[in-house]
Amino acid sequence: MQLTRLLPFGFAITCASLAAPAPEPTALAVLPRIHSNEYINYTTLTGFFLQDDPATSTTGFDYAAVNFGLINRTYSTDSEVPADWTQWQKFDHYVWRLNRGSGRFVQYKVLYMGRHGEGYHNVAETYYGTPAWNCYWSLKDGNGTVSWADARITPNGVAQAVKAHDFWASHITSQKIPVPETYYTSPLTRCLQTANITFSGLDLPSRQPFIPTVKELFREGISGHTCDRRGTKTYIQDAFPAYKIEAGFSEDDLLWKPLQGEVPVDEDIRSKIGLDEVFDSDDSTYISITSHSGEIASLLRVLGHRNFSLSTGQAIPVLVKAETIESKPIVTASQAWTTISTCSTAPPLPTAT
Ligand SMILES: *[C@@H]1O[C@H](CO)[C@@H](O)[C@H](O)[C@H]1NC(C)=O
Ligand SMILES: *[C@@H]1O[C@H](CO)[C@@H](O)[C@H](O)[C@H]1NC(C)=O
Ligand SMILES: *[C@@H]1O[C@H](CO)[C@@H](O)[C@H](O)[C@H]1NC(C)=O
Ligand SMILES: *[C@@H]1O[C@H](CO)[C@@H](O)[C@H](O)[C@H]1NC(C)=O
Ligand SMILES: *[C@@H]1O[C@H](CO)[C@@H](O)[C@H](O)[C@H]1NC(C)=O
Repeated sequence: MQLTRLLPFGFAITCASLAAPAPEPTALAVLPRIHSNEYINYTTLTGFFLQDDPATSTTGFDYAAVNFGLINRTYSTDSEVPADWTQWQKFDHYVWRLNRGSGRFVQYKVLYMGRHGEGYHNVAETYYGTPAWNCYWSLKDGNGTVSWADARITPNGVAQAVKAHDFWASHITSQKIPVPETYYTSPLTRCLQTANITFSGLDLPSRQPFIPTVKELFREGISGHTCDRRGTKTYIQDAFPAYKIEAGFSEDDLLWKPLQGEVPVDEDIRSKIGLDEVFDSDDSTYISITSHSGEIASLLRVLGHRNFSLSTGQAIPVLVKAETIESKPIVTASQAWTTISTCSTAPPLPTAT
């Protein structure tokens, strides 16, 4: 697959926006397909999680306080299972039934998508203010005191990942929440770290160990900011030796370009390619994806889920229906890169008001 051809870019999404506004939903009618005459059509099934309900406010929402958002309800398959099963067990049975009767061309999966814990780039954007961050500081590797190129997570970010770990540990025991069967992570350090802390040391089935696959296409919207430039394959292998790196992953970051940014329509195209690769090759029902605010927003658009912006360390579950349909080849329309506007000198720090 020629990523360079599929990824023309045009517009900077800041990698670090603490609450990046979700870009306009884009035309999904132009997405490419894996097979020449097939297309995977994703839809989100609603009524299962608080997050899929447009009435749920995203402000201050905390997955960990509400059983990941799983709605307390009945399912049509409840009579088949013991009445004292937990909500998650009943949900799991319902999803199993969906897949059992779905036929060859339809599959249902539950995606657990988590945003990385707070990174040094997030702190720096707040410190300098978004305009100065975007036009000046984000283009540098750091400021002499702090480095934010391929940013690591801060102690606060570590605490957010520990909280996610504790959520899983307690809910595996008390709620019998289905654990991920497979794991994917963005190649950026803040996600590699977050996945490690979240899932290491959990009581996982021996057949489903935490061995995440590092996946290029689940990286953040590529903004030209140094925090969106990934490390080499060798660096990732050395720092996270237990991780699996997907086939075809290049040694160097071939996608990031200084002063250039990806437009949302192009990000959605590659998000769909990434999802298609997973849905095409992974038989798991429960899949964990550790990624970023902008990229998870893009995945949600491709999945037909409502906007749901995640603050650092937050996570969202989505029940996805994926239907493989026959369709005519579609010409991929992509947009040009745009250039990031820069400032020649450092803008003043924001004044306290
Ligand atoms: C989703 O975000 C877009 C862009 O910010 C906005 O126009 C749209 O109204 C949002 N939709 C919902 C349901 O909030
Ligand atoms: C995708 O699925 C949705 C929901 O079933 C349907 O409304 C839509 O028409 C489908 N899209 C295509 C291209 O078939
Ligand atoms: C469902 O009920 C449990 C136990 O009463 C509660 O802890 C949980 O928050 C409820 N979930 C939702 C989404 O309301
Ligand atoms: C560098 O940025 C951090 C915030 O990210 C700030 O605390 C620190 O004071 C800055 N260092 C310099 C030398 O300005
Ligand atoms: C998680 O991080 C620790 C400490 O950096 C490292 O020793 C361990 O190998 C990592 N786990 C995996 C699965 O890579």
